Amino acid sequence: MPRDKTPLIQKIAQQASVTFKDFLSEENGEHKPLPEQHEQLISLVTALGAADLKLDPRKSPGPEEEGAQSQSPPVTYMHICETPEFSMGVFLLRPGTAIPLHDHPGMNGMIKVVYGKVSVRCFDKLDSNGVDPPVFEPPLAHSQVPSVCRSVLHCVSEYSASSPPCLLTPQSDNLHQIEALGGPAAFLDILAPPYDPDNNRDCHYYSILQSSTPSSENSEETWLLEIPQPEDFWCGGQAYPGPQVSV
Ligand SMILES: [Fe+2]
Repeated sequence: MPRDKTPLIQKIAQQASVTFKDFLSEENGEHKPLPEQHEQLISLVTALGAADLKLDPRKSPGPEEEGAQSQSPPVTYMHICETPEFSMGVFLLRPGTAIPLHDHPGMNGMIKVVYGKVSVRCFDKLDSNGVDPPVFEPPLAHSQVPSVCRSVLHCVSEYSASSPPCLLTPQSDNLHQIEALGGPAAFLDILAPPYDPDNNRDCHYYSILQSSTPSSENSEETWLLEIPQPEDFWCGGQAYPGPQVSV
């Protein structure tokens, strides 16, 4: 039998195409991936390592040198492919950096670490209808009040190259913060459907508000304030060095 020489990343792209096919159709009102196909995608992604993407952890971005003339980006994105159904790419995180808390409105996602270690803090948005925000200290400016949302910290987990992917859905773990632990880190990121500001799928950033009065008996519940992209975070671009993908 001939050996299957299809690169793993190409298989992942093909499987993602099948998994998220008809994802946005009227019939699929909840935008859920097909369960069996989703499982197959998870198992392919679980097997992915840095070598499959031709990434060399030894050539990963190092810590920022103090006093460097031109600052290099804390985070670098390598685009692999994008279709109407999904986007796929790789994020490289410098040591000590983090992708700040952000959301993925109406989207599913999958993060697979290929080298290094990351901590992922996931939040779920809660229904704010009929719940008044608590009194914040210092008080919020009037213009900030409409952009707060109630949320709950759902999990804080660490992922390394031997971990299965971290998953998010439109309803669960949809907001997250990703921090590199103990050195540089890289992860594959699949989003389905892709970000699209023209279709209410823009990326928003948040800071965690501390309230002066307990907002509920659940100490993990908190309010988030929508903020502009933090000034110390930006994302550079770099060519993806791995096998070309066609979908
Ligand atoms: Fe994200």
